[in-house]
Amino acid sequence: MKRIGILTSGGDAPGMNAAIRAVVRTAVFNGLEVYGINRGYAGLLEQDIYPMNSHSVANIIDRGGTLLKTSRSDFFPTSAGQKRAAEVLKEYEIEVLVVIGGDGSLNGAMCLKRLGIEVVGIPGTIDNDFGASDYTIGFDTAVSTAIEAIGKIRDTTFSHNRINVVQVMGRRCGDIAMYAGLACGAKAMIIPEKDVPLEVICQRLIEGRDRGKMHSIIMLAEGCGGYRDYCKKVQELTGVETKGTNLGYIQRGGAPSHFDRNLASNMGYQAVNAILEGNTGTVIVNRNGKYLAIELEEALATPKIFDEAMYQMTQILSM
Ligand code: F6P
Repeated sequence: MKRIGILTSGGDAPGMNAAIRAVVRTAVFNGLEVYGINRGYAGLLEQDIYPMNSHSVANIIDRGGTLLKTSRSDFFPTSAGQKRAAEVLKEYEIEVLVVIGGDGSLNGAMCLKRLGIEVVGIPGTIDNDFGASDYTIGFDTAVSTAIEAIGKIRDTTFSHNRINVVQVMGRRCGDIAMYAGLACGAKAMIIPEKDVPLEVICQRLIEGRDRGKMHSIIMLAEGCGGYRDYCKKVQELTGVETKGTNLGYIQRGGAPSHFDRNLASNMGYQAVNAILEGNTGTVIVNRNGKYLAIELEEALATPKIFDEAMYQMTQILSM
């Protein structure tokens, strides 16, 4: 009987549990043995490994976080760490490793592949910064969480005629800021993909005020800096009292949305199908609503395309 391993790595994301559940149940249905690896690559190196069955994943589809825990290992990125990880997998007779995580975690899977380990990846990160897939697990929930919080921030911002700079996650990718900003009618977006001078943004805010828009939300992706500096500069440039909020880790928690549960379930199911078909060295992606297993190397080399048309629309709608 073929034995597979599964781990989650990097930042947790709502929906990872649904993916774990789908992998375990599809594997068990098809007569595969599943070993869960706790705490990502660090747990693999420390042999924090246990057998899983259908019951191990009961009652988790609606839970945020990851049942398998996660980590960012210091040793795994080294060649000695990767060699040791490959040895541990062989010792446990794990023939295929399923890795659920973002870019860094899937790069780790690629390193194991180069050492002769069969892997299948599933993109899970709230940042939605994996270019090969239209969506990553957790992004939809994170945007919904941000929208809910911004609604509350808007109430108080409106009441005080203020500006509020709302910082969201996204080191290299402005998707959370842009999607949440569009859905909340944010006045401006400061995102890594667009280098718009703050003076230009502030001029728009002043013009908006002249037309009677007395409160404004500015979305800020963390990759562009911290909200405190922006608050100070925006207040100086506009003369309007400016406050800020960092939404922080609340964006990563909470029950996954229906979209993330279904995305994750499909990806987990297809990951096991890829294993059954011998189609390893791949990652499951979502493109135009379809699920595909594509070469991991090709996926990692696929740049994230910025949705310029969507950005332009946000600019028009936020006039
Ligand atoms: O999960 C992605 C992400 O949330 C990034 O947006 C963020 O910069 C990072 O992870 C922070 O994660 P941690 O503090 O857990 O290392």
